[in-house]
Amino acid sequence: MTESPGFTWQDDFSIDHRTMDETHREFVECVHALLTVEDDQLEQALNSFTEHAHRHFGEEDVAMRETVYGSAGCHIDEHAAVLKSAYEVRAMLVEGRTQVVRSFAQALVNWFPAHVRVMDQGLARWLVQRQLGGSPVVIQRRRAVIG
Ligand SMILES: [Fe+2]
Ligand SMILES: [Fe+2]
Repeated sequence: MTESPGFTWQDDFSIDHRTMDETHREFVECVHALLTVEDDQLEQALNSFTEHAHRHFGEEDVAMRETVYGSAGCHIDEHAAVLKSAYEVRAMLVEGRTQVVRSFAQALVNWFPAHVRVMDQGLARWLVQRQLGGSPVVIQRRRAVIG
């Protein structure tokens, strides 16, 4: 059993949406810390992860609600499940159960790639399409130049 500890960014996590990609890089860094810091730094790392997850998931949830995104339901549910687990794990860490935090972090490593490729990628495409569809003035100007 010589698994290398930690979690690193992989190019196929990128979904061609600048702000979401930046947020996802931060997610990877937070999970990496949960896997690699010393036990006495674990509480701080878990707090950082939870803060990050609140903001990260909150931003995506708001974007889905504001744009009435059709696939929002299960995406929002997945975010909520991760946050709920983070709070449960926090309660166990208070009891000194550091291994539970490491297991949670490993579960996040396993969860993240599929979440990004399916749910976040779908949301990113939806948001980009809406942005493109919402700029008719630019299209008219281009037509005027061409004509
Ligand atoms: Fe995300
Ligand atoms: Fe998401």
